[in-house]
Order: sequence, then C-alpha cells, then structure tokens
Amino acid sequence: MTSYHRFGTVPPKRHTQLWHEGRLLVEEVIGLEGFDGPSSTLYHLHQPMQLRQVGTFRPLARDEWQPDHHLHHHFDSRELAPGGDALTARRLLAFNDDLEVWLSRPDRAMVGWYRNGEADELVFVHEGAGTFETVLGDLPYRDGDYVVVPRGVTYRVVPSGPGPQRHLVLVSSGLVEVPARYRNGYGQLLEHAPYCQRDLHVPANLRTVDEEGDYTVTLRIRGGLQDYVVPFHPCDVVGWDGYLYPWTLNIHDLEPLAKQIHPPPPVHQTFEGRGFMVCSFVPRPVDWHPEAVPIPYSHANLNSEELIYYVAGSFGSRKGIDVASLTLHPSGLTHGPQPGVAEASLGSTHTDEVAVMIDAFRPLRLTALARELDRPDYAWSWTPTVHLDQAADPAVPTPGPLA
Ligand SMILES: [Fe+2]
Repeated sequence: MTSYHRFGTVPPKRHTQLWHEGRLLVEEVIGLEGFDGPSSTLYHLHQPMQLRQVGTFRPLARDEWQPDHHLHHHFDSRELAPGGDALTARRLLAFNDDLEVWLSRPDRAMVGWYRNGEADELVFVHEGAGTFETVLGDLPYRDGDYVVVPRGVTYRVVPSGPGPQRHLVLVSSGLVEVPARYRNGYGQLLEHAPYCQRDLHVPANLRTVDEEGDYTVTLRIRGGLQDYVVPFHPCDVVGWDGYLYPWTLNIHDLEPLAKQIHPPPPVHQTFEGRGFMVCSFVPRPVDWHPEAVPIPYSHANLNSEELIYYVAGSFGSRKGIDVASLTLHPSGLTHGPQPGVAEASLGSTHTDEVAVMIDAFRPLRLTALARELDRPDYAWSWTPTVHLDQAADPAVPTPGPLA
C-alpha cells in the first residue's frame, strides 16, 4: 500500500506497553522482505501463535492441460456452476511461477479463516457484494471492486445476501502494487495516475472479539494448505498501524486516458506484479484523429500472454464473446480485429466496454478447467471463410479483442 494507516488503539511509541482491561496486549509485526519491506504492527488480546490442533498438510493439485495446438483461446465461464465458499469455490484456470488465475463462484460464507502465507491476492469482483472480515477490520466489497489482500492478512469472506457471486482471483508470488510510475517518492499518487488515494478504500470496522473456542485458520504455504485450530477468535486486534493492509479500488472509479490515435494497453495499467501487469478497460472516448482507426491494430505478443476477462459492454451484443468470457492470446501469435471489425469501427466516438486484462510475461500453463471452458472456434475467427472441423461456426465473426 502507498500510505500509512492507523486504526483503533496503539501506544504512542512502537514496541512499548499497551494495556487493555488489565492485561498487557501482545504486539505482532507482520512485514515483508525481512524488516525492510512494508509492515504493520498489531496489538492482540491473545498470543496469536497458540494452537489446539493441527491438520494434515494438503498439497494443491494442479490438473494441467497441454493443448494439442498452439492457438488463441476463448474460455466461456458463463455456465460455471456456483458452489463452496470464497476459498473452496476457487477453480484454477491458468498458472505459471509468478501468477495463478482462478475463477470462483462462492454461494456461502466462509466459516473458518484463511491466510495466504506465500502470495498476494487480487480479487476482481465481477458480481456480488459482501465483506472481507479481516483481522485488520472489515472491508466491504461490491460489483467492480478490485480487492487487494497482501500475504499475511487473515480473513474470511462473507457474501451479503443470496445474489450471485462471480470472482476472478489472481494469486501473485510477488507483491501486487500500484505501478511505480504513478507514485512520487513519498508514495503519493501523481496527477497523471488513473486513480488517486481517495479511490482507495481501507478496512472500515475493526472487530475486537474476545471469545474462546475452536477456530479454524487455513494457511496457504509451500504450494498447499495447512489447517490449524486455534483457541481464540482470530479477530482479537485492539489496534494496528502501518503500510500492510487490504484495500479496494472500484473499476468504475478509474479515470481512463484517451489519445488522438490508438494508445496501447499500458496506458490502462492498474496494478503491477512480478512477471505480470493488470490493465482495466473502462468506458472512454476513442481516438479522434480524422483518419483514426479507433480499435487496436494487429499485434504479436512476442514475450507475453494476454488474458482478458470480459465484464460488461458492447462486446456482449456480439456472438461468441460475452460477459464472463475470457480470451487468451498466447505469446508468439498475432491477434487483432477480425475481418470487417476495423471498417465497422470507423466514426465511432466512444466505447462502453469493461474488461480486465492480465499480461503475463512468462507462458501461462492451462488446466482441466480451461479445457472444459474452451471454445475452439475462436482461433478460427480471423479466417471466417475457411471451414475447418475445429470451427463450430466459422462464418460468424467474433469481436475484436480489446487490446
Ligand atoms: Fe492484444
């Protein structure tokens, strides 16, 4: 996070006594990169490392799918069935050593708590509302929110109401950060950034629960899950301060940049990670040069994998790509507008598309879920007059990609 935050009661000096109802509180520092990275200091009612039971370590299985051909992909997740809580509903779509991409459709609240001990998490909420109940306070979420949860933060997700939930979950082995070019040396967001500190929302309600019982905390570590049963409610923090905490940013609060002639995706960057970046496409004016072609030119991702998740907008009226679709344009191949799309775009003045793009700089490996959701006709949508067995309906052009 780019700014200091303090919540609840903390002593005037760090690493000094703080008393609450006659007991000395337990200070805990959670931080990164030894003591050189961002950190926060928490004050607990109880010693946080107490245990009642420990479960058996469960390695996470990755059911990899290696396609027979190197082609563009369209994954249609509209019919993905809901089931499970925000953790158990996750289904892995793609991964490499830097990044995991999960789809999740939770339909119930988490009972236990969860902490990722080895990766940052970035949850894009396509549909749904609720609360991330964290040890640092409650963080409400709603449609269009990016929820950034740094490693080390214990939380559970509680949806509000029975409405549908549809989440895109990125798990990043490096930090998920505000791009450095948006920040000055003080961490403040600069005037040219597409969002400012006022758009960032931090935990709003600090629960300090003093209850004894059996509480399950699941830790993601070493590529697996480890359950612990602890004797006190995990949300027993009286106060905390620092730079390491969860936060949200809504995609509809972004201030997109436009140019006279088509700008490439990095102008829409929202986050940076190690080995990937995340861009957001939101409604905006398109190129206004009199000779402009206001859609992307064909381009080859020579050393990146472009995965786009479609959220809302005009592509929904086109056959093939709809909301909750994903396209993957892998490295080494050219992609761009399908035949006729460039001509159709001439004279347009704006776009109402909403989408999230992940550019991964190392190859993404696919899973059995990707095979299940794959729509092979997409790879042939640039050659509509060629009829091949793989093309379900080659005469119908699918929409051009957003980037
Ligand atoms: Fe692209």
